[in-house]
Amino acid sequence: MADGGELIIDSRYLQTCEIPTQGRRVEPFTLVIMGGGGDLSQRKLIPSNFHLFHENELPEVFSILAFDRLDLDDAGYRAVIEEAVKRSDADAFDKAAWDLFSRHLFYVRGVFENDESFEGLKGRIEQISVPTSKGTRDVIYYMAVPPEVVSLAVEKMKAHDLCKGAFKTRIVIEKPFGEDRASAARLNRMITGAFDENQVYRIDHYLAKEPVDNILFFRFSNTIFEEVWNRRYVDNVQITVAEDIGIEHRGAFYEKAGVVRDIVQNHLLQILSLVCMEAPIGFVPEFIRDEKARIVRSIRPVDAEYIDRFVVRGQYEPGTIGDREVPGYRGEPNVSPSSITPTFFAGKFLVDNLRWAGVPFYLRTGKRLPRRVTEICIQFKRLPLRLFGRTCDVLEPNVLFLTIQPDEKIALRFLVKYPFAANQLYTVRMDFSYEEAFKTPPHEAYERILLDVVKGDLTLFVREDTIEEMWEVVDPINRRWESRTPPDFPNYRAGTWGPPAAEQLMAQESRAWLTV
Ligand code: BG6
Repeated sequence: MADGGELIIDSRYLQTCEIPTQGRRVEPFTLVIMGGGGDLSQRKLIPSNFHLFHENELPEVFSILAFDRLDLDDAGYRAVIEEAVKRSDADAFDKAAWDLFSRHLFYVRGVFENDESFEGLKGRIEQISVPTSKGTRDVIYYMAVPPEVVSLAVEKMKAHDLCKGAFKTRIVIEKPFGEDRASAARLNRMITGAFDENQVYRIDHYLAKEPVDNILFFRFSNTIFEEVWNRRYVDNVQITVAEDIGIEHRGAFYEKAGVVRDIVQNHLLQILSLVCMEAPIGFVPEFIRDEKARIVRSIRPVDAEYIDRFVVRGQYEPGTIGDREVPGYRGEPNVSPSSITPTFFAGKFLVDNLRWAGVPFYLRTGKRLPRRVTEICIQFKRLPLRLFGRTCDVLEPNVLFLTIQPDEKIALRFLVKYPFAANQLYTVRMDFSYEEAFKTPPHEAYERILLDVVKGDLTLFVREDTIEEMWEVVDPINRRWESRTPPDFPNYRAGTWGPPAAEQLMAQESRAWLTV
């Protein structure tokens, strides 16, 4: 640190790790977006590709082919998408770059039920795709369609030899991946019947957030943290994914999903496994995915009695966020006025392995909470001594905060002697901010996802076995909650930190939720 507290980036300290780069070439590719006219394509996929193009991250030769039911041709599609990209970032829109980029955009009209559409798709891929240096034609299918359409589309793709034969392919699948273990297993069987597992990229976009990716690097490159990262020194771990937004225009989806399927089964359990995993024996996707899978399998199963005691559900009622009045969940469009869908979750989990036995992991997430924050708090045990006597007999514990968003930060809380006082301790915080240190604003996770798929790097994608095991963790909770009508719903005001039971969950263990 410089005197002013500013972190100086000295290139002597910038170490490039020897992470294997095999398979990370950027060869010509064709990205086929199933549902390429839809919301995800307009808001995320095309803008992210455009940005990657702008930053020179894409190869010279590539094509993006949208498959959708809208009656458009290439020119029509380019015009529609140009408007959408302008909307997503009007100030930064670079028309000259767009004109270069849009030459890579193509459109083929089709419906998923129709065999001819898939023949048309195949013909168009053959027409526009360019062979790689190895002579293959690399085709990536991005399933930007509702979950119920994925199976239908994959069946048709298989029937029309679009999966393994004619092209060298990958398939990218958005969450939700199933709605419980059984449906995820069915979906897995169907997909791996058409593609090999190493062609399948199951997305969890949280893994592509820079500070989430950093967890592994931070943990296994710093002696002072790694050595205390275990049950001997850690009192508890808290992971919060708080959102101030409601369910936006996704009432129909959310009614069926609820908070557990939307956030806990995927984002929260993935973060948990990164916090808990052992060091992989190398930066090879399989090694990392193996270690994460071990953690998911080590989470102690929960039964009905445990759920009633240690897992809390909530649903928001009308309230105020900032200075804005917002409706309650039951007043949102496409939501039943007597809905029992939970929008808030808090729960305690245990990880039964040598490193973590007995350490509680408190997970919390919800819609319409006071602010947007995703944060991991590692609270350390207090030192077992009474040196400071009655004035300070309950020392504030050390806490390490890894803040994922909206700020990308790491903070450490510790105690110092208050100046000139003989007997007073004071809690202070040391902060590191990505943006201040590296002058980089947060990146769009979809850019990282797309680039990794193009490079063929599976590290950030969820493996077949792990996705099923993650369902196994949460299925009992959904079953319990869906079989018992909550007597108190809605039970928290929008703009508050959830129902009182979330505080009680911690209080009953003499703890409290932390925040940086
Ligand atoms: C998605 C959920 O996976 O993540 C949404 O379906 C949620 O409900 C979103 O709002 C949050 O993502 P982010 O990147 O904005 O934190």
